[in-house]
Amino acid sequence: MSRKDFFIIAVDGYSSCGKSTFAKAIAGELNLLYIDSGAMYRAVALYSLENRIYEDGRIDAERLKNVLPSLTIEFHLNEKNGIRETFLNNRNIEDEIRTVRVSEIASTMSKIKEVRERMVSLQRMMSNSTGRTDGLNGVIMDGRDIGTVVFPHADMKIFMTADVDIRAKRRYDELVSKGLAADYDEVRKNVVLRDHQDETRKESPLRKASDALLLDNSHMSVDEQMKWFLERWRLIQLKYEGGN
Ligand code: DC
Repeated sequence: MSRKDFFIIAVDGYSSCGKSTFAKAIAGELNLLYIDSGAMYRAVALYSLENRIYEDGRIDAERLKNVLPSLTIEFHLNEKNGIRETFLNNRNIEDEIRTVRVSEIASTMSKIKEVRERMVSLQRMMSNSTGRTDGLNGVIMDGRDIGTVVFPHADMKIFMTADVDIRAKRRYDELVSKGLAADYDEVRKNVVLRDHQDETRKESPLRKASDALLLDNSHMSVDEQMKWFLERWRLIQLKYEGGN
């Protein structure tokens, strides 16, 4: 097999597994573009709440379908903190999309076929345009359907999981560290609910791709996860360098 100059890594798994921390660390190490696909579903949720497409548990499906093609969702690098922040129609929404309320609605919105189709197409476009132009070595994207639907031919697929209490604690700490109001029991309930919704939805349910590597990071530090990753990454590199 010949040398490769553009890699795609898919990271899927349960909510609050530390997928984004893990994927960002890999992006930094390998000089890849990191794309947070969950932020895109959150952006749709925020838009729907603000524009009353979602109200009192009801979705105005017609308006949603009409507006989807014109929604602009982008990630822009904030030079001050090095974070690629989420923009919806040119407005920075990075903080607003991290609340428990938006998490809940994002899960609901992500069940809708038209929403998924639009997000998948944006995700493929982003990885092609930005990923290939910025002198990067590829793309790493995290989400729920990246290895199964968005990039079924990814060079490496990782499926992450962790104990539910550990995940709830992580999400709670994340919210508190951002100065957002949080209640542990509410956060845990939200994690359980989202697991259920992600796994049981009709459209692209959360599944481990048959060729994905399983990573349970319940008791692993970020450094240990990185070591786990690099050991396996080396094998993939060898394959492309003519090792077999
Ligand atoms: O990863 P996250 O918690 O930010 O994702 C927010 C919601 O979007 C979550 O309920 C699952 C959904 N999602 C999805 O359905 N597919 C993706 N590729 C990413 C997220």
